Amino acid sequence: MSVQQAAGATIRVALLGCGVVGSSVATMMTTHAADLAARVGAPLELVGIAVRRAGRDRSGLPVDPSLFTTDGAELVTRADIVVEVIGGIDPARDLILSAMGHGASVVTANKALLAEDGPTLYAAADAAGVDLYYEAAVAGAIPILRPIRESLAGDDVRRVLGIVNGTTNFVLDKMDTTGAGFQEVLEEAQALGYAEADPTADIEGFDAAAKAAILASLAFHTRVSGADVHREGITEITTGDIEAARDMGCVVKLLAIAERTGSAEAGDEGVSVRVHPAMVPRTHPLASVRDAYNAVFVEAEAAGQLMFYGKGAGGDPTASAVLGDIVAVARHKVSGSHGPGESAYADLPIHDMSQSLTRYHISLDVADRPGVLAQVAAAFAAHDVSIETVRQQVDHDTGHASLIVVTHKAPDASLAATVETLERLDIVDAVVSVMRVEGD
Ligand code: HSE
Repeated sequence: MSVQQAAGATIRVALLGCGVVGSSVATMMTTHAADLAARVGAPLELVGIAVRRAGRDRSGLPVDPSLFTTDGAELVTRADIVVEVIGGIDPARDLILSAMGHGASVVTANKALLAEDGPTLYAAADAAGVDLYYEAAVAGAIPILRPIRESLAGDDVRRVLGIVNGTTNFVLDKMDTTGAGFQEVLEEAQALGYAEADPTADIEGFDAAAKAAILASLAFHTRVSGADVHREGITEITTGDIEAARDMGCVVKLLAIAERTGSAEAGDEGVSVRVHPAMVPRTHPLASVRDAYNAVFVEAEAAGQLMFYGKGAGGDPTASAVLGDIVAVARHKVSGSHGPGESAYADLPIHDMSQSLTRYHISLDVADRPGVLAQVAAAFAAHDVSIETVRQQVDHDTGHASLIVVTHKAPDASLAATVETLERLDIVDAVVSVMRVEGD
């Protein structure tokens, strides 16, 4: 049962975490207080900010220093809305569950926790009759979860393609525009503050996989956890891959992909959720997403194609999404209602990556002599993979040729098996690059 606030009564907001995002949230809550009160219909009062270290100089923030506390567990017991921007699993999960147990709605930016244990949080919110909102958990400032959860609730989302990690987009974009290698660009990204000192979560695709799980859960009304997401990062991308993409009229992007597969009629309906680098045609809207920007491309049955674009990280952009959620849940407190809970009724099976239908771009160095093309074609045929195009370039001096083969869509397992067969052929000197092609 949600509890209605007394008319005009102050809504108490507790903030857990005061890093880059938390500082922006605290600042915006203070400087926009009058507008927020008008929009909510009641004043919002920041009643405390839980921090790990008490002694830090936070004099630059326009908040009463007495609000800082290291006792987050106590703070969550005296708030109507708890905003969690600590990140990570512990202690965030316990604090959120305790907050809900004390009747507080929760706004969080914690993609890792939602991807690992979203159903537990939803169940606790449902039991307490409170809201769980998390727009900032995916693609920072970009409004994408509410459009999927609410605006598209009457439609049928078929596919979501996202560039949801700014660090990797910055690295791949710079590799494309400067010709520099992965390591060199990563170091530049670290120097500019885009990439963390330990960039593993970004470059290995963990961050994008958590966001893919959240997007897929909402889009397909099916529980998808981070562990369900097939994940490949960008550490193996070479300048050769980037050049091969350019020759194809494509760019390389790290994509979070969630799509409906199979059909109800055939009885093989499911969802495929994956994160991997892919060649994207330069004509596709996602190809124009540069630097550290994010974008999410949604295909829905009736709406058709939609694209959401903007800043995926940073204090103020992420705080914008957090504040939007704070206003939404505060309005619910005022009206005594609450927003949508978990919707997992479809409960679709999650297909393994091996079943995903993808296209491959394969670049081979081969001998230039009769029968070579036939043997290469036979390797594809043996695994029932249909070839879409073949391009050959001969180096007359060396007697070798490069072959670029692009396939039609086929199960990923068949494509992987084809590449293995190609690698074993005597006439193949090297499989130079293998990449999936998406977005057409
Ligand atoms: N590290 C993320 C990125 C932002 O590079 O996009 C937070 O999810």
